Amino acid sequence: MANEIENVALRAARAAGRIHLKRLSRVNISRKSNSIDLVTEADRESEAAIIEVIHRAFPTHAFLGEESGASLHKSDHQWIVDPLDGTTNFAHGFPQFCVSIAYQHRGRTEFGVIYDALKKECFIAQRSRGATLNGKPIRVSTTDSLSTSLLATGFPYDRRERRRFYLCFWEAFMMRTQGVRRTGAAALDLAYVAAGRTEGFWEFGLKAWDVAAGSLIVEEAGGRVTNMDGSALDVHGANIVASNRRVHQEMIATIAETRPEAERRHAEMLRESHAAA
Ligand code: IPD
Ligand code: CA
Ligand code: CA
Repeated sequence: MANEIENVALRAARAAGRIHLKRLSRVNISRKSNSIDLVTEADRESEAAIIEVIHRAFPTHAFLGEESGASLHKSDHQWIVDPLDGTTNFAHGFPQFCVSIAYQHRGRTEFGVIYDALKKECFIAQRSRGATLNGKPIRVSTTDSLSTSLLATGFPYDRRERRRFYLCFWEAFMMRTQGVRRTGAAALDLAYVAAGRTEGFWEFGLKAWDVAAGSLIVEEAGGRVTNMDGSALDVHGANIVASNRRVHQEMIATIAETRPEAERRHAEMLRESHAAA
């Protein structure tokens, strides 16, 4: 079964990747929840292609896909799919996007693949079997201090409404690390922690399809993934911290120390905008 899951997931990821490359030069954009939350034909087409490949192999399995939602029926076997992570990048031709596919058995992620078709990078993990990039084993970095770390983060689609809250954490990490990157594809942010390209990643308000595959890949590469208070990750309520394990505690402590000031600045911003209205 494990081999079949892997084969089918890779077939589905490659099908999505082909659609990304085909559509990249003629992107057709529409808006979802607000003017900065975009969706393209590539998102919808690649999700349909992924579901078709998986459904043909496993007709009784359930799905949770960003574009089509959850299947009506329940199953012990569920596939969690972000058909195109990094849509804003894709829409602008900025080369940082991927497909992310996770397979869960009874709510536990057993397999994950993140495929960046443009860079031809395929990150895979199978529970207890380690993580690979294009077939070669990967490990998280050995950096053991935040002061010598490179981190990544992202901002959810309510970033304009909650900008001061999110920026407060950016500022705190900017002061404590060698750098912070915001490259716009959360699944690749996680894959890069796994590959040792960054030491850690944090983001508020992610969804299961953003993190299900990537969190297994980080853990299987020797890293750690938790909620922001350090508790076991809830993929469905993803306020996430992922790291090479060694800088995890420092990241959690930075977030805890920064949160009261972030809440204060957000409340202040709300008061200012009410006063101005
Ligand atoms: C988004 C990207 C981005 C992150 C957002 C996500 P999408 O996913 O992963 O990096 O900051 O929070 O929603 O919409 O491109 O699939
Ligand atoms: Ca996403
Ligand atoms: Ca997406």
